[in-house]
Amino acid sequence: MCGRPILVDDDAGWIAVCDLDRLKLEAIVRVAGRDLLVIWNAGDVVACARACPHEQADLALGQVTAGRLHCPRHAASFDLRDGAMTAGWPSPPLRLHRVRITGGQIWIEVQQQQAGR
Ligand code: FES
Repeated sequence: MCGRPILVDDDAGWIAVCDLDRLKLEAIVRVAGRDLLVIWNAGDVVACARACPHEQADLALGQVTAGRLHCPRHAASFDLRDGAMTAGWPSPPLRLHRVRITGGQIWIEVQQQQAGR
């Protein structure tokens, strides 16, 4: 389930995305203004790209089971520990982002935009 997008707050490459309690309820949360997701995975928080690296399907519409995020378009899935895709698919792994939790707030690391771009 993926509810309304959440607000973001830039802080030196890290953005605050939502409360841990909210993520536990919703399982998959979109990050407003970014093509990112945060996912509750059996006690762990994972942050990743929203677009599937195969054909850009919206992974916010996917399902999480047994530590894997299943793409809603095809039969492939991604290991939420390292982003590895189901064997045999001609695609790069799912891009993951570092996560930290402070006072019940989830933060994820995002790349800084380069000046002049
Ligand atoms: S678009 Fe996700 S597996 Fe094909």
